[in-house]
Amino acid sequence: MASVTSLTASVHQRLATALSATLPEADADPLLRRSDRADFQANGILALAKKAKANPRELATQVVDKVVTGGVIKDIEVSGPGFLNITVTDRAITENLAARAADPEGRLGVPYAETPGTTVIDYAQPNVAKEMHVGHLRSAVIGDSVVQLLEFTGETVVRRHHIGDWGTQFGMLIQYLDEHPHELDHKAGQVTGEEAMSNLDRLYKAARRKFDADEEFKTRARRRVVDLQAGDPHTLAMWQKFVDESKIYFYSVFEKLDMEIRDPDIVGESGYNDMLAETCRLLEESGVAVRSEGALCVFFDDIKGPDGNPVPLIVQKSDGGYGYAATDLSAIRDRVFNHKANALLYVVDARQSLHFKMVFETARRAGWLNDGVKAIQLAFGTVLGKDGKPFKTREGETVRLVDLLDEAIERASAVVREKAQDLSEGEITERGTQVGIGAVKYADLSTSASRDYKFDLDQMVSLNGDTSVYLQYAYARIQSILRKAGDVRPAAHPELALSEAERALGLHMDQFAETVAEAAAEYAPHKLAGYLYQLASFYTSFYDKCPVLKAETPEQVENRLFLCDVTARTLHQGMALLGIRTPERL
Ligand code: ARG
Repeated sequence: MASVTSLTASVHQRLATALSATLPEADADPLLRRSDRADFQANGILALAKKAKANPRELATQVVDKVVTGGVIKDIEVSGPGFLNITVTDRAITENLAARAADPEGRLGVPYAETPGTTVIDYAQPNVAKEMHVGHLRSAVIGDSVVQLLEFTGETVVRRHHIGDWGTQFGMLIQYLDEHPHELDHKAGQVTGEEAMSNLDRLYKAARRKFDADEEFKTRARRRVVDLQAGDPHTLAMWQKFVDESKIYFYSVFEKLDMEIRDPDIVGESGYNDMLAETCRLLEESGVAVRSEGALCVFFDDIKGPDGNPVPLIVQKSDGGYGYAATDLSAIRDRVFNHKANALLYVVDARQSLHFKMVFETARRAGWLNDGVKAIQLAFGTVLGKDGKPFKTREGETVRLVDLLDEAIERASAVVREKAQDLSEGEITERGTQVGIGAVKYADLSTSASRDYKFDLDQMVSLNGDTSVYLQYAYARIQSILRKAGDVRPAAHPELALSEAERALGLHMDQFAETVAEAAAEYAPHKLAGYLYQLASFYTSFYDKCPVLKAETPEQVENRLFLCDVTARTLHQGMALLGIRTPERL
């Protein structure tokens, strides 16, 4: 049992006991929270008094009389109309942190979820033969953090990268490649991600030109789609070439993003081909979907087009072709029945919300989703340029993700170089990459996913303000103090009185477990990011006010080093859950 009961939980427990001793019939929640006036404030008595038709201040006084002080609670008093102000002892703060630091699993006392389940996360899903853009960045960054958060709480996580690897454009590409067989040839194993992409890009453009200009080629390309869907082996082998080439490129971008993507988790649209016909049959037989003008459709009362006519979800087109919806419905069956998931999470652009609304409702009607299995789109907003408009190049084109990442690394390296004292050129490059990629991830994760955000590199790599660089510097500064301390090791001294800044820092660290649990349960990495930023700020004011190595007594030096160390470990763990590195030196 490595988990540590937080001070909040201990205080809550003591208040709840006193409350139910005072008001035995009430289901008594003291509504405890952190407060500026004391360490904690409980506001729950007001509502309870109202219900019991009692005077709130009197009730509060009765509760206070029943709370056992000493140990954890130092002081409890009634304030205002019937609030309780609670102060905890310095000893409790230090002992609590010491218990976290001693966690043998290195989890800082963060408990596992009581009833973990299985979640399938659909994220990082670029499209074959296409450049990745900022939208793909958001899905990857948010999804990766949610994976880390859930796994940390003990959830079984199945990662799914639903890449766009199927559709009519492949007929054109395959036909062109078949007629120009050497266009994708390169020395085996030598090709880099960027090279792979530029090959694909060239091929795509050439194929498109031919398709638009040459009627006979167009006919051949269309026939090729039919061959592909019919599973013609030669055509499939050509298609596989495109997929493989694209994966080289995807992997190179994910590697740049410092993100682990595993091959078996890449199950693209084509991965559900074998299920499509049955999905349609099940929907048609159950009456969930109906034939309308030859197409298999699902209708919804509340979804109508501008003309007032219902907009259906088309599961199968009138020519027999299956589209995006059929694939997603089949994926749901696979995730629910084969993977036994309790939760399906889709980290996808908010602009696809109508699609998911219709897909989820269809699956619910079919009985594939029910109270035991929830499906949620973690819909993210748009990445905007500095001008507040959707992010485009000056020429009005979509910005290539790799270019953005390279620029972030370059800017960050400049920041690192300027500050660097004893770093070699190689170290500057390495740190620059960790800082630059961290900056991009943090900017994305520190605002709630549903909101749009501005991609502003100047702001992202700034040393001041709510940036990852600020957090990384706080971490590196602590490491430098610990190095300077040499043989003097961090050690907790619960007998020491704490200053205001030390208490504030310690009480904030006590909330780490609750914050992680909340961020995981709500799929909200921004809550963790906000917490870590506050942590770095509390640390900064502690550092400004409390000399560490020059503290008055040897015990105080050790205890302050201990506070530094736990802060660093909390920062490191928290940043790891956001997918961001914390270099030891900056
Ligand atoms: N490939 C799609 C795109 O780039 C995202 C796929 C989302 N996932 C899904 N199951 N539909 O927009």
